[in-house]
Amino acid sequence: MDLERFRLRRFLESLPPEELQRVEEPIALADVAAIHDGNPKAVWFRQAGGAALAANVTASRSRLALAFGTTPGNLLAEVRARLARPQKIVEMQSAPAQEVVERQPDLTALPVHLQHTFDGAPYISASMDFTRDGERTNIGIRRLMLRGRREAGVDLNAPSDLRAIYQAAVGRGDRVPIAFVVGSHPVDHVAAAMRLPGDELNLMAALRGEDLPVVKCLTNDLRVPADAEYVLEGYLDERGYAEPEGPYGEFLGYYGALKTNPVFHLTAITRRRDAVFQAATISGATLARTDTAQLNAIRAEVAVWRAVEAAVSEVTAVHATPSGGGAFNVRVALRQGSPGEARAAIDAVFACPVHVKHVFVVDHDVDVFSAEAMDWALATRFQAARDLVVRDGFRPMPLDPSLRGRTVASKAGFDLTLPLGERKGIDSRTPEPPRYEGRRFRSVAAALADGPKFFVELMSARGSRDGREIVREVDALRASGTLERDAEGRYVYRPAPPAR
Ligand SMILES: Cc1cc2nc3c(=O)[nH]c(=O)nc-3n(C[C@H](O)[C@H](O)[C@H](O)COP(=O)(O)O)c2cc1C
Repeated sequence: MDLERFRLRRFLESLPPEELQRVEEPIALADVAAIHDGNPKAVWFRQAGGAALAANVTASRSRLALAFGTTPGNLLAEVRARLARPQKIVEMQSAPAQEVVERQPDLTALPVHLQHTFDGAPYISASMDFTRDGERTNIGIRRLMLRGRREAGVDLNAPSDLRAIYQAAVGRGDRVPIAFVVGSHPVDHVAAAMRLPGDELNLMAALRGEDLPVVKCLTNDLRVPADAEYVLEGYLDERGYAEPEGPYGEFLGYYGALKTNPVFHLTAITRRRDAVFQAATISGATLARTDTAQLNAIRAEVAVWRAVEAAVSEVTAVHATPSGGGAFNVRVALRQGSPGEARAAIDAVFACPVHVKHVFVVDHDVDVFSAEAMDWALATRFQAARDLVVRDGFRPMPLDPSLRGRTVASKAGFDLTLPLGERKGIDSRTPEPPRYEGRRFRSVAAALADGPKFFVELMSARGSRDGREIVREVDALRASGTLERDAEGRYVYRPAPPAR
């Protein structure tokens, strides 16, 4: 198996200059955040705090698309296609991720920086957690707040499979063995951010589109990708929600408060010899340039597509805007098969498992990736009293600051579709610059004798490169009383019947 293909270092090397900023000179950890925060590129520090560090790797749709070998517009289709093709898990006896083994491990020897002004401490932010739930491996992405050489805080407040696994273990008085992988290919991050039923190692393999090489950790029984850069092995202790964690600049662009959270204990670090550590941009003033929003968006798009697909004739596009955090504002395009499908789509999105707050449903002719096209549809196809669907009482996303203490959330659906079959003739066409095509005639009268014509067709009929002389010819016919207009606006020639 190729254990280089899905390693972070290879992906960084493959990025073109417009996607990657290289920082070659050694840099202090105190200066790292200001460089990656809001940066449209991934950043590769050769030496930050003494080690190689990459940031922002998954913080753009174009980089995610490169990781999947496709275009940004086709990313969702590629992800969906891969999810439908299972791959195998292959256990290795030795692995690049274990080239170096630290049995006296030290979190404070890793290149971990302070990300936002009021954060409680430096955070490991691109840490992908592996745990077991019976035979099933659960994977997520969870931040770690450094609290010492062997101890870190983990935020487990939001509903997640890991939270359920942890709460059940605490109920039994048990620890939860856990391994955090730091330094991964973007495809693995997309897999980790998803929450689908089943073993999530299988999900990761499917998204890679290849068999997934895994290796057993050295101080617990967990299996992690054998081609990872770093693995932090350890456990969450049995005390439950026991220690203060936070504040932290959160993924919605606000600080999350100090919380009480579980504690991670480090038992070993394994890594590649030339390992690259990784940081994720989580918050800031430009959410669209964060890893969190981009990963949330693709995860939301998969869930929304599945929900809407079951409710309407044909979904043609789904886009969750990363500037809103990647799940709250979602756009759906449909090819309607029967009246009322836009409302069915809205209801399906309300009910789907991601926290969508606002869904905008358009016809397939509107580009869901274009803010301009969406604004046009909202401006010209929407009547608030008729087309706005507002509901309340939904499961909230606890970090949503607009809740202001409410325990249920409201949602809005914007039906920006046109009633099925309403537009006919030129009403159904987008105004575009004219194209001059069709048969030539010796006069405007001869062209019109052939049948009604639009002005553009009269210009084409006469081979006109100007148009004003056609106005004069048309005017002459009008003066002779032989010209009319039909309902579409075409010119119609009605010569007087010959005199008897
Ligand atoms: C970059 C990033 C960081 C994240 N950090 C956290 C976190 O610290 N705590 C948390 O509960 N969820 C966090 N999430 C969300 C979870 O990783 C995500 O909901 C995941 O699907 C949960 O997996 P699970 O339900 O299988 O446990 C983060 C997501 C991303 C993309």
